[in-house]
Amino acid sequence: MAKDKTIFTCSECGGSSPKWLGKCPHCNAWNTLVEGLPESSSPVKNRFASLAKASEVTTLSSIEATDMAYTPTGHDELDRVLGGGIVEGGVVLIGGDPGIGKSTLLLQALDSLQRAGQNTLYVTGEESGAQVALRARRLGLDGSQVKVLAEIQLEKILATLGASEPAIAVIDSIQTVYSDQLTSAPGSVAQVRECAAHLTRAAKASGVCIVLVGHVTKEGALAGPRVLEHMVDTVLYFEGDTHSSFRLVRAIKNRFGAVNEIGVFAMTEKGLKGVSNPSAIFLSQHSEPVPGSCVMVTLEGTRPLLVEIQALVDSGGPSPRRLSVGLDRDRLAMLLAVLHRHAGVACMDQDVFVNAVGGVRITEPAADLAVMLAITSSLRGRALPKGFIAFGEVGLAGEVRPAPRGQERLKEAAKLGFTVAVVPKANAPKKSIEGLTIHAVERVEEALEVVRSLA
Ligand code: TYD
Ligand code: MG
Repeated sequence: MAKDKTIFTCSECGGSSPKWLGKCPHCNAWNTLVEGLPESSSPVKNRFASLAKASEVTTLSSIEATDMAYTPTGHDELDRVLGGGIVEGGVVLIGGDPGIGKSTLLLQALDSLQRAGQNTLYVTGEESGAQVALRARRLGLDGSQVKVLAEIQLEKILATLGASEPAIAVIDSIQTVYSDQLTSAPGSVAQVRECAAHLTRAAKASGVCIVLVGHVTKEGALAGPRVLEHMVDTVLYFEGDTHSSFRLVRAIKNRFGAVNEIGVFAMTEKGLKGVSNPSAIFLSQHSEPVPGSCVMVTLEGTRPLLVEIQALVDSGGPSPRRLSVGLDRDRLAMLLAVLHRHAGVACMDQDVFVNAVGGVRITEPAADLAVMLAITSSLRGRALPKGFIAFGEVGLAGEVRPAPRGQERLKEAAKLGFTVAVVPKANAPKKSIEGLTIHAVERVEEALEVVRSLA
C-alpha cells in the first residue's frame, strides 16, 4: 500500500523517478536516488503556499527581538556548549561513538530538568524501558520522574509528543526511528531524513525542545544525510577516547550560542561529571621538566585550555616517519621544513612523533610554536624550563604570527602557575602579567635562541 506513495529523488540534481534506479535518468549520476515522500502527499498542494499566505513582510526593526530564554539543564558543562541551556522549540543533534556516554548524559540532564519542574520525555529505540531504568538506578537517580517511551515508530512518537506536551524530549536514537509512510528500512538515509524533518517541524510548532541522538559512522561523520546537520539548530559531538575517562562535548553548530565551545566531563561510577578546571587533564604532570614536552595554551570556544604537546625525535630508517596524534600531520611536515630552513634544525633522518596529551584534538595553528619547541627539545635531549609555555602560529617564511586572544591565554597560564612564556610579538601584553615573564618573538630562530638562553 505504502509502496506506490513514495518517489525517488536524486540527491545530486533533485530530479525524481517513480522507481529506484541505479542511475539518475536526469543527470546520469550513479547511486544518488533516495526514497522520499512526494509533495502531493502533504495536505497542502504546494508546501510553500500556506506560508506565503500566512505571513506578511515586515521590516527588521519592527520585529520585537526577544532574548532567547535558556532553561539550564543543571549540568554546567552541558549548558556551556548549548549556549546557556535548552531553548524552546530548539532541536539539538548529539553524535558520538557507541558507548561514549550520550544516553548517560542525556538521562542525567532529563532527570535534573524533571527535578526542576520541567516535563520531560525519553524516547528509547535502542534499549528497553527496563534497561533505561537500570541505567537510572546505576546513576543514583532513584525515584526519577522522567517519562520513558519505548517506541520507534515516528507517528506514535509524534502522537505522544502532542499528548504529553513535554518541555524537552530526547529521541535515542534518530537512526532507530522509522515512518510507516516509507518502505525503506529504519536507519536508511530516507528514513532518517524524513523522521528528523517531521520531528523538527513538531518542535517548531509546539515549542518542545527535541534532542536527537545520532550515530557516527566509521569515518567519524554523523550517520545519515548531512542534511540532518542543516535541519537542526545545534550540533554537538561527543569526543574522547574510550580508554580514558574524559569526554569532550563540542558544539560544531549552534544557532543559540558560540560554536567550538567545549564541555569537559569525566565518566565516573555515577555517570558523567562536569570538570570545571579541564587544564589539569591535558598536562601530564611531570615532577621535573622532561625533554620533548612543551605546554601551550589553546582556545576552545571561549575557554583557554592548557595542553601539553609532546614530541619524540628518534633516529629512523631510510624513510623516516612523521606521525601525529591530535595534531595535523601535514602541518607537522611543514613545521619540520621551516625548522630546517630557517633555524637549521634538521630532522631529515629522524622519526618524528608528536602527541597532544589527554586525547584532545588541536586544530588551530597557534600550536605551531609549541610543536617546534617540543621537537627541538626532544632532538637535543634538553628539557624546556620549568613553568614554560609557548603559543603562536609559524609561517613558511619562519615568522611567528599572533594567535587570537593572546591576553586571555597568558592570563590563564599565569593563573595555573606558569612563569615563563614565549609568544608572538603582537600578543605581548602592554601591561605585565603578575608572575609571568614574557618573551616576545618575531621569528622562529629568535624563539629557539630565547629557549637556549633560558636553559
Ligand atoms: P552510554 O551512555 O550507554 O553510551 P552511548 O549512549 O553513547 O552509546 O554509555 C555507556 C558507557 O558508559 C558504558 O561503557 C558504561 C559507561 N558508564 C559508566 O562508566 N558509568 C555510569 O554510571 C554509566 C551509566 C555508564
Ligand atoms: Mg545509547
